[in-house]
Amino acid sequence: ASYDMGGHDTYMHKEISEQPDAVDRVLRGRIDDRFSTVHLGGLNLDAREARSIRRIKILGCGTSYHAGLIGAGLIESMARIPADAEPASEFRYRNPVVDPDTLYIAVSQSGETYDVLAAVQELKRKGARVLGVVNVVGSAIAREADGGMYVHAGPEVCVVSTKCFTNTVVAFALLALHLGRIRDLSVTDGKRIIEGLRRLPGQIEEILKSEDDIKKLAKEYAGAQSMMFIGRVRGYPVALEASLKLKEISYIHAEAYPASELKHGPLALIEPALPTVAIVPDDDLLEKNRAALEEIKARSGRILAVAHQTQEKADHTIVVPKNEDELDPILMGIPLQLLAYHTALAMGRDIDKPRNLAKSVTVE
Ligand code: AGP
Repeated sequence: ASYDMGGHDTYMHKEISEQPDAVDRVLRGRIDDRFSTVHLGGLNLDAREARSIRRIKILGCGTSYHAGLIGAGLIESMARIPADAEPASEFRYRNPVVDPDTLYIAVSQSGETYDVLAAVQELKRKGARVLGVVNVVGSAIAREADGGMYVHAGPEVCVVSTKCFTNTVVAFALLALHLGRIRDLSVTDGKRIIEGLRRLPGQIEEILKSEDDIKKLAKEYAGAQSMMFIGRVRGYPVALEASLKLKEISYIHAEAYPASELKHGPLALIEPALPTVAIVPDDDLLEKNRAALEEIKARSGRILAVAHQTQEKADHTIVVPKNEDELDPILMGIPLQLLAYHTALAMGRDIDKPRNLAKSVTVE
């Protein structure tokens, strides 16, 4: 399908810019202020069933897998259900233990990714309950799942996913809040998260306004051979996704590591020619993250921080608005979409159609 670019030069730029509206859409009609919760009618999961879930396993590929990693963190922190994410294809081929008390969640923008669909079919054959977190309405994965939620990002044309990633993470925040309020999340915390969710579209708008500054930064980093992305706990999947985005469209080699793993190996790579992008939210791990910046600086590494306040050890900081700690990863990913975009643009890449990639991988 082809859609109007609406005055943008690329679909990617259009889709990045659409995020305030897209996030507004995924929230719309779902928030219940009276009980500080959200209604997710399509889940097909009543309160008693929701209480009996012992684990959650999230499956997806690429960007959707990364959204699932953030989703698992949101579910663990808000609903206190052990949760993790795994690439769907890995899961499928390792003969996983399928447990009746585990809720499985398949994540997909297109709803047609073969590895995810095959994982869902295998799970269902073994009697598991599988939900879908999907963008395309009526797609194969949406039809195959026992229930789920649509992420309402709208059509995404660019091969690399941006707005759908953001909306999928917001959808997981809604699911985590919903499950949390059935279990042990307090009314006060529910209210706090709802207020945070409502702030997102305006805050994304604010981040998008700093595009010119990010564009300048991108020019500085466009010559790099390779880049390192680091983050800790909530920040780590943000680093993973930002590094994937950069490699997909700029073809710059990039690695993502948990900041805590630096000293266990990757620190050996640090030198002036290898810039590091560091995710440094103002949360309980701020001091730990700052220590990582110091380690990099001590090896003369260049640092670009994405943070809530200017980082002294960094060469540059992109300051993003603060939200609730749980929701910070949603905002911290956005300037890095723009960084990847402008880096690729400065290098003359074909942004909407990167080499060797297809929008949806419907074969094995
Ligand atoms: C996104 O930028 C990628 N091109 C890719 O990793 C994608 O996320 C993956 O193939 C999964 O696609 P899906 O979400 O449509 O299932």
